[in-house]
Formats: sequence, C-alpha cells, structure tokens
Amino acid sequence: MSADSAAVEIVDLVKAYGSRRAVDGLSLHVPRGGVLALLGPNGAGKTTTIEICEGFRRADSGVVRVLGLDPIADAEQLRPRVGVMLQDGVGGYTAATASELLRLFASYAADPHEPGALLEVVGLTDAGHTPVKRLSGGQRQRLSLALALVARPELVFLDEPTAGMDPQARRGTWELIRRLRVDGVSVVLTTHFLDEAEQLADTVMVIDAGRVVAQGSPAELTRAGAEGQIRFRAIPHLRLDLLVLALPAGSQAREPEPGRYLVTGEVTPQLLATLTAWCASQHVMAEDLAVERRTLEDVFLDLTGRELRA
Ligand SMILES: Nc1ncnc2c1ncn2[C@@H]1O[C@H](COP(=O)(O)OP(=O)(O)OP(=O)(O)O)[C@@H](O)[C@H]1O
Ligand SMILES: [Mg+2]
Repeated sequence: MSADSAAVEIVDLVKAYGSRRAVDGLSLHVPRGGVLALLGPNGAGKTTTIEICEGFRRADSGVVRVLGLDPIADAEQLRPRVGVMLQDGVGGYTAATASELLRLFASYAADPHEPGALLEVVGLTDAGHTPVKRLSGGQRQRLSLALALVARPELVFLDEPTAGMDPQARRGTWELIRRLRVDGVSVVLTTHFLDEAEQLADTVMVIDAGRVVAQGSPAELTRAGAEGQIRFRAIPHLRLDLLVLALPAGSQAREPEPGRYLVTGEVTPQLLATLTAWCASQHVMAEDLAVERRTLEDVFLDLTGRELRA
C-alpha cells in the first residue's frame, strides 16, 4: 500500500450482536499523523469499532483499512506497527512485574523504547518491581499505555486511556499523547471526557447507538448550530418581539420564566452591545448578565437528547 494511505479508513461498518447493532453504518477517516477522538456514552459502540480495527472482532459488513491493510487478513504485518491499549487493561500476565512485562513486549520489537525510560515517562518507576496484579487500577492503565507504546508504533488505539487515573496521571498521559502527535504517530482514542477530546484531538467524532451523530474539530463542533446564549434578569414581560428586531439576524429571545431572559444566537460583541443598548433604550436594567458558550456537552445533548455519561 502507498505510504500516503490513511492511518484508518472505515466505510459503512456494521457489527451486530444478535439483533442489536452495536455499530450501525459508521464511517471514519483518520489521516496519517491525525488524532481522532471517539466520544460517546456507554454502549455507543466505541470499543467495538476500535477492536474491529485492532483485528480482535470481525465486522459483519463494511470496509476497514488500517495503514492500508486488512486488520484480520494482514494481522501479522500490522502487529509491529500498531499499538493497542485495551479498555480492560493488561489482563493475563498478572504474576509478572510491570518492568518484566514491558521488557518482554520490548523484546518483540525491532526498535523499542528503552523500557526503564518509558516506565519513568508513565510515572511507574517506583512500581516497576510490583507484580501487575498488585498495581492499582490507575497504575495498570499507565502500564497498559506503556505496553501500547514500547514498540514505537506508527498508529495507536487507546480505549479510554485515562479512565481511572488521578488528575496528575491524566495530565501526564495527555502530555504523552501530545508528544506522540509531535512524533507523527496517528492516534485513535475513545473517551467520555469532553475536555480530553477537546485537548487532544484534531477531530472529534460523536457517536451514539453505533452511528456518527457529529464530527469536526472541537472548535467546529462547538461553533455549529446556535453558538451560545446570553442570560439576564430584568423586569418581567419585556417586548421581546421588539428586542429581536433590534438584534442581529438569526438571534432569538425567550422569557422562560417571568423576568428571566435567554437570548440565543451567534454571541459576538455586537450582539451583547445591541442587547444592552436596547435595554437602556427601554429604561430597563439588565442584571446578572451572563454569556454562556456551547460546550461539546451541549452539542452532544442537542444531538442525542442524552447526557454523555448516561
Ligand atoms: N461481545 C459482545 N456481545 C454482545 N454484546 C456486546 C458485546 N460487546 C459489546 N456489546 C454491546 O454492543 C454495544 C456497544 O458496546 P461497546 O463496548 O462497543 O460500547 P462502548 O461505546 O465502548 O461503551 P463504554 O463507554 O461503556 O466502553 C453495547 O450495547 C454492548 O452491550
Ligand atoms: Mg468501551
């Protein structure tokens, strides 16, 4: 395959368990060197999608290409080039120590990272001689990340890389993922954390019930649709029909409760200035005025009617 083929290309992927479609016609494209975050609630189909890319599950239909290859038929060729961090962590080898396990994985690789240095990067130097079964959940996650990276893969799949990590470990992991990007490694990660997707990904794909409900850069996603809103309090029953005439086109104004107002639209300095000027012209004092920007959480809620951590 040509060197310029995508890191991951999925077209119309379907995977059902019984009559239930865990992945229902999903397509995605990750360019080489790109960082894609799959964001979605429990059961959205993130792990299923990722494990199909890793060659651990078989698609019912659709096309899946990883580094231009077939994840199952070309598994042997892909293994040294792809790093995998499973959602359920390190599993099996639990009697070994963290350091032994990492050395073992390194011994399979042509040009591995130095295991001791990598343990340090993931903050496990002190726990290096602890049997894996005695590591805490967060430490196991970090080991699992180190195992995914030790062979210097071109592409890594990270299924909830920071689940169960304390804030400091989480920051460290973000730093590590940022470094991967600098090194040109392609990354596909899943997360429930909006800030994580926002911080790390070039492209965020919001999935729900096995389908893509939105995708774009974090900035594009939060800009899409009604961009933001302004809340304020004032005397009840303002003439909102007149206010709307004064506001930039596309803005809306509501009074969800008497004396509480909500203006939605593209939040610009003009919108704010027009709103306050209109209130002044009506001799109305706008109080507790607050500009609220849409977050990815709002976008998700709008798209699916559900909270992310449903
Ligand atoms: N081996 C399996 N057998 C039967 N059903 C499965 C299996 N694996 C996943 N499912 C179902 O497929 C759907 C998608 O699961 P998946 O693990 O891909 O979701 P997820 O987005 O990774 O969720 P989470 O955020 O909880 O990790 C769920 O309804 C799940 O119950
Ligand atoms: Mg999962």
